[in-house]
Amino acid sequence: MSAQRTSLVVLTGAGISADSGLATFRGGGGLWEGHRVEDVATPQAWRRDPALVWRFYQLRRRALGTVEPNAAHRGLTELAAECAARDVAFTLVTQNVDDLHERAGSAVLHMHGELAQLRCERCDALVRDLERLELDVYVPCASCSHARLRPDIVWFGEMPYFLDAIDEALRACTHFVSIGTSGVVYPAAGFLSVARDVGARTIVNSLDPPENLDPRDDFRAGRASEVVPGLVAELLQDL
Ligand code: APR
Repeated sequence: MSAQRTSLVVLTGAGISADSGLATFRGGGGLWEGHRVEDVATPQAWRRDPALVWRFYQLRRRALGTVEPNAAHRGLTELAAECAARDVAFTLVTQNVDDLHERAGSAVLHMHGELAQLRCERCDALVRDLERLELDVYVPCASCSHARLRPDIVWFGEMPYFLDAIDEALRACTHFVSIGTSGVVYPAAGFLSVARDVGARTIVNSLDPPENLDPRDDFRAGRASEVVPGLVAELLQDL
């Protein structure tokens, strides 16, 4: 029988970008940048009040220009490069819609979509755009001439992206690392238990213990920008 190939899956959430200056979702009195989630992050909200939702996401898209990747994003890029050099499988999955992983040089599966991308609500054409950032002007679709693109964000009630690829990586993983997520939003919150079930070593970094933490997990409390670089060095010893 051949030995199982070493295989890492890393899942990140809002906490990894908190040290770059982007607000997390939970912890602000249940409000996200002053809004209830259902007023800005559901398909119903987009149908009911597209101007409010558009404005909200235009502000988030603008905010990307004011922040930079931090040591945690960069550490994961280094980890991926070392894994590639050692023929270790590596999959980075994020719930974040910011572009800090890619700006740090990582390839990443954005399971909840991306602020940097717009999608036609009629023909599904995708456009990468961080230029047209006016708050009250929709971006029209160049493919089908529909009057407005929507943010390419997976809203509550919609199906996250890349679930098949993520499931395949999880079922093969020997190491699973969760960084900066509260572990309450599914399906991402369930990845930790899938990894445990396949016998992976599970490591969790967050400021507060997440909802889905289990005594079998190796919990590292602290800021991602301080914890992740050391964790990467440790993992590289182990691979
Ligand atoms: N370093 C590490 N962890 C941090 C830091 C930090 N500097 N700051 C905050 N955290 C931790 C918090 O302790 C918390 O556990 O990050 C987590 C942030 O949790 P949430 O705000 O709930 O973010 P997340 O888990 O990514 O949210 C999941 O919810 O609304 C949706 O779609 C949205 O993708 C998002 C999903």
